[in-house]
Amino acid sequence: MEDVFIIRGGKKLEGEVILSGAKNAALKLIIASLLFENQKIVLENVPQIADVLELIHLINLLGGKAKFIDKNVLEIDSSTLKTNKVDMFHGSKIRVSFMLFAPLLYKFGECFIPNPGGCRIGARPIDRIIEGMKAIGIEVSYSSKTGFYHALLKKRPTGFYQFKKPSHTGTELLIMLSVFAKDKVILQNCALEPEIDNLIDFLNQSGAKIKRDKNQIEIEGVKQLTFKNSFKVISDRNEAVTFISLAMASFGKIKVAPIREEDIFSFHQKLKEIGISVIKDGEDSFVYHPHGPIFKSTNIETSPHPGFMTDWQPNWAVLMTQAKGKSMIIERVFENRFAYVEQLKKLGAKIDFIDFFVDNPQDFYFFNYDKDKNYQQAILIDGPTKLHNGVVDITDLRAGATLAMAALLADDESVVNGASILKRGYENFVEKVRSLGGEIKEVT
Ligand code: EPU
Repeated sequence: MEDVFIIRGGKKLEGEVILSGAKNAALKLIIASLLFENQKIVLENVPQIADVLELIHLINLLGGKAKFIDKNVLEIDSSTLKTNKVDMFHGSKIRVSFMLFAPLLYKFGECFIPNPGGCRIGARPIDRIIEGMKAIGIEVSYSSKTGFYHALLKKRPTGFYQFKKPSHTGTELLIMLSVFAKDKVILQNCALEPEIDNLIDFLNQSGAKIKRDKNQIEIEGVKQLTFKNSFKVISDRNEAVTFISLAMASFGKIKVAPIREEDIFSFHQKLKEIGISVIKDGEDSFVYHPHGPIFKSTNIETSPHPGFMTDWQPNWAVLMTQAKGKSMIIERVFENRFAYVEQLKKLGAKIDFIDFFVDNPQDFYFFNYDKDKNYQQAILIDGPTKLHNGVVDITDLRAGATLAMAALLADDESVVNGASILKRGYENFVEKVRSLGGEIKEVT
């Protein structure tokens, strides 16, 4: 299998992109749909991306039913679930497989889940999440011999858990586990990502009693969930950032919809700071274009929502290769999220890793900082640089979009290896790039 994008770059990219549903909302809504008993759940705006297809496959392997009944409309039925053990091979292909703890525990009272897989962006432990499960009364143990977690639900959850540091999927899993709580579960220092609110809205629309007050979430247990109407997945803001960054780096003009300003507010602020016009154009769409023939560099530092998202920094790095001056990117959320740097350098980008010290790294970083480990959490980009063609390898999902972007800016033909990694999270990427005037083809 070739698994490459062949890209002929150097054009100005302009036009309109209609965003797909968010991967990081859809995956959790699909898993939450398995919490309903004897009901068929219909989700709209579900992107047909590899991660969603992988999750569907996993659910079918467990005996449940999940299938697309229309282009982006997915029907899920948990009534036929027949096994409480998640297959190691397929489970490790998709990181959210550990969130199946919630439906499997309610269906079977006990379940076996392999250590989660996912993108190659650092160790990505689930220690806080397991600690949270234990705090609300679930028994969990891990066997390093088998590589499986074993969880038992002896009584309905209750109690309180305060995340030491926020976790996006951790917050979502503890919400799902608490929906049928004995009385009340209180979660503190929760993550604030809008995809979590999409999940809360879905569950509340179905009878759950979940209240969020900023980073505190209170869940009052209900006996059952009742599905009322089809429910819509929110737009993919990571996809929005990718296409906006791409068009801006090529000095084009782009309209993107539907998107809520609050979901990408910190990105808008940075765009404005460097000299990009951000114009609201209708209720849920925005138009972007650079003010003039150059835009400025600026520094960013990633942090969980509402900060500048970690998923956006690889795209931002490409944009900064076209900005005038030096810009620094500091990654606080994940370790090892700069694997794309060596690849971008192959296309002529001027990027160096730099030493970056803070007095309190344990507090500053959102991963579990180990003082005996060497980290590379900061880069310096010097621009503007005319990128040239080359052969690059995609290392993880967001790096995939980044390298495709860079190849679209570079003159002549480039080969981007690992197209399937990008397709884990971007729907119709090739078609969308072409609609903006980009020359790209996929060879499978
Ligand atoms: N962490 C721990 N222990 C835990 C939980 C998290 O050490 O028990 C660490 C993580 O390793 C990371 C930091 O805490 O360094 C924050 O992790 P978080 O749990 O918030 O991230 P996540 O839930 O694993 C989700 C998205 C990511 C996105 C982040 C930040 C999904 C499936 N994944 O990851 O998306 O970057 O939140 O919003 O929702 C992607 O789509 O490419 C992607 C990586």
